[in-house]
Amino acid sequence: MIEQSLFLIKPNAVMQGHVGRIISMLEDHGFSILKMKLFRFDEELAKSFYAEHIGKEFFNRLQSFMCSGNTIALLLEKENAIHDLRELNGDVSPQKARPGTIRALHGNGITDNGVHSSDSLASARRETKIIFGV
Ligand code: CMP
Repeated sequence: MIEQSLFLIKPNAVMQGHVGRIISMLEDHGFSILKMKLFRFDEELAKSFYAEHIGKEFFNRLQSFMCSGNTIALLLEKENAIHDLRELNGDVSPQKARPGTIRALHGNGITDNGVHSSDSLASARRETKIIFGV
């Protein structure tokens, strides 16, 4: 099934100059870019985007990190996009991610792990509405 997924290049990867290499990996793996924008999270937007994590011990770290610099968001499309993008990202912890995955190459720690992608079709629709408003 052709699916869409919301993908973020997080502030550490933007600041460290990995944007071009990450987008090349996405294109090389067959993802089409439908929308793209650069912006900076503020606390309210981070709360809304990461609502399911409010109250967890890592939430404040995640929120302040996401507000620490620019983020690039992409709306991506491909057959089985949700699953295939999570495979390409690798484990949430860069230290545990398979070699060659985006997080293994461009992540630092579990919070500043380089990239995010939607974990389901429902999340993709919710996150796309928050970031792109459609
Ligand atoms: P992301 O894909 O953006 O989704 C939620 C984020 O929470 C995750 O990547 C991590 O950056 C961050 N996070 C921090 N600590 C944890 C943890 N212990 N388990 C899962 N996610 C965590």
